Amino acid sequence: MTALTVDQLAQIKSDALASLEKVADAAGLEEWRVEYMGRKGAIPQLLRGVKDLPETERATMGSAANAARSELNDAYDQAAKLLGEVTQRMTSTKGQEMSVGHLHAITETIRSIETIMTGIGFTMVEGPLLEDTQHDFDNLNIGPEHPARAESDTFYVDGGSPDNRRVLRTSTSSVQVRAVQELKAKPPFKIFSPGRTFRNEKVDARHHHTFHQLELLSVGEDVTIADFKGVIETLFSELFGKDVKARLRPHYFPFTEPSFEADLTCIFCDDGCRVCKGTGWIEIGGAGMVHPLVLEKMNVDSQRYQGFALGYGIERMAMLKYGINDVRVFLDNDLRFLRQF
Ligand code: DAH
Repeated sequence: MTALTVDQLAQIKSDALASLEKVADAAGLEEWRVEYMGRKGAIPQLLRGVKDLPETERATMGSAANAARSELNDAYDQAAKLLGEVTQRMTSTKGQEMSVGHLHAITETIRSIETIMTGIGFTMVEGPLLEDTQHDFDNLNIGPEHPARAESDTFYVDGGSPDNRRVLRTSTSSVQVRAVQELKAKPPFKIFSPGRTFRNEKVDARHHHTFHQLELLSVGEDVTIADFKGVIETLFSELFGKDVKARLRPHYFPFTEPSFEADLTCIFCDDGCRVCKGTGWIEIGGAGMVHPLVLEKMNVDSQRYQGFALGYGIERMAMLKYGINDVRVFLDNDLRFLRQF
């Protein structure tokens, strides 16, 4: 791990305390615990990293990290106690009964992804939903003749003149160049970006005009397809709670070369079921090695560096995770559905 300063540690601690303040229920508390104190959480990771620090810093960082751990442990215990009291009061026969809400299935899925991806060293970034065509298309090597640019797929927003049109972003890939430019990131970097995307689709059980994607991008001197497989096998095994393996099939995307689509071993069976149509494999999304032209747009030397990128549909992940067979339910706001998750 990279060496952290005592200041950065203090920042992590104050972030942790601030986010603990916002915890509203037992599930939120557990998420907090996993994020900061769990096996792969921020604080245990830091403590594990202490041994790799130069000897002069080891003692200072070690004791600072230990102190932070015990302070956060205490804060956790106190929050758990408080939450217990609140819950008891709410359910006691004397008090007025209150119904407690919970997070949407898509938000839950995104939160799980965040925990897993930050656990393996990726940084989360966000980008605007209303994008310019430069970031949504040109920077991704999607020329004016590409079908993704046609009016039929894209929601354009009038910007006064044809050159000034904006789009509701058609994929989270628009974040790739933007994030690297804005962060002035130099390789190696590993980022991920979950978020809302839009396409002018006819709505049916499998398509929606509004959906979510997860974008991953990892660039460095020696980042390979093997790394890509390792990352997605880890992500999906953790997400679905079952060891899954990935396989890649050749495909085409303008912004990757070579490009492929990835399948996972079925999460529901070992030898064929209805979900995988008896094949044992489930398709999950598109990926590839970042195209040199896209790297250059990021101001990354494509002779020296390479990397992988991928984009997956989050609704699809949630549908698999929760066994949902119609994408429309996520946006219908039907409480009978929402309450189940
Ligand atoms: N942007 C693609 C889409 O929306 C998905 C995608 C494919 C993203 C390959 C990537 C990638 O980053 O490498 O269909």
